[in-house]
Amino acid sequence: MTTQLVQEQYNQWSEDYDSDENLTRDLDETTTKAILGTHSFNSMLEIGCGTGKNTNFFATISNHVLSMDFSEGMLEKAKRNIDNPHVSFTQTDLTEDWPTKSDGYELASCNLILEHIEDLNHIFEEAYRSLKIDGLFFISELHPFRQYTGTQANFNKDGVIERIPAYIHNVSEYLKLGQSVGFELLKMDEWKHEYDNKIYPRILTLLLKKKA
Ligand SMILES: C[S@@+](CC[C@H](N)C(=O)[O-])C[C@H]1O[C@@H](n2cnc3c(N)ncnc32)[C@H](O)[C@@H]1O
Repeated sequence: MTTQLVQEQYNQWSEDYDSDENLTRDLDETTTKAILGTHSFNSMLEIGCGTGKNTNFFATISNHVLSMDFSEGMLEKAKRNIDNPHVSFTQTDLTEDWPTKSDGYELASCNLILEHIEDLNHIFEEAYRSLKIDGLFFISELHPFRQYTGTQANFNKDGVIERIPAYIHNVSEYLKLGQSVGFELLKMDEWKHEYDNKIYPRILTLLLKKKA
C-alpha cells in the first residue's frame, strides 16, 4: 500500500522533478561525480534512476547502464532526457526480485531512493547478487541527521506540499548491513550544499566493495 503511494506520488512529481528547486537533488549529482568520476566500468546498474538526472554521467563512466525504477512517469521522463544506445531502462519494483544478471555488473548506484524502502536488507542482497566480485556499491542518500529534523522527500502539487512516505535508516544500519551481506567499506563521507547553513550534513555517501 505504502509502496503504491510512493509510486503514484513520483508519477505526479515526474513532470516537475527536474525543474523544481531541490538542493538535495543537486548535491547528489555533485557528490556522485566527485566519488565516481575517476572510475570506469564495463557495465553498471542504476537503482532508482528517476528522470535520469545521473544517467548521462553514468554513461560516461560505464559502457553499459541498466537503469531501474518503478514509476512510469519518472521513466518516461528519463527516456525523453536520455538518448543513448548504451543505456537501457526497465520498470522494476526494487522491493521485489530484480531482473538483473548475477555477478554481472561492476558498479551499482543508489541515489536518493533508500528513504522510501523499509527493508534495506533486500536491496543490499540484490546488489550483492548482481555485482561481480570486487564490484562497487555506491550509496548516496539523504543523511539520517536531516531526517531526524523531519525532512523527507516532498513536492508542491497545485499549492499543496505532498510528503512522500519515508523511513529513517541510521548510519549504523547501512554499515552493519553492508558487513553482514558481504561488502567491505571503502569510503564514507558526509556532504553539505554550499547554501546549507545548518551544522548537520545533507547527504551521506558510502562506497562499498563486494568481497568474495
Ligand atoms: C528522489 S528520486 C531519485 C531519482 C534519481 N536517482 C535522482 O537522484 O534524481 C527517487 C526515485 O526512487 C524511485 N523509487 C522509490 N521506491 C521505489 C521502488 N520500490 N522501486 C523502484 N523505484 C523506486 C522513485 O520512483 C523515484 O524515481
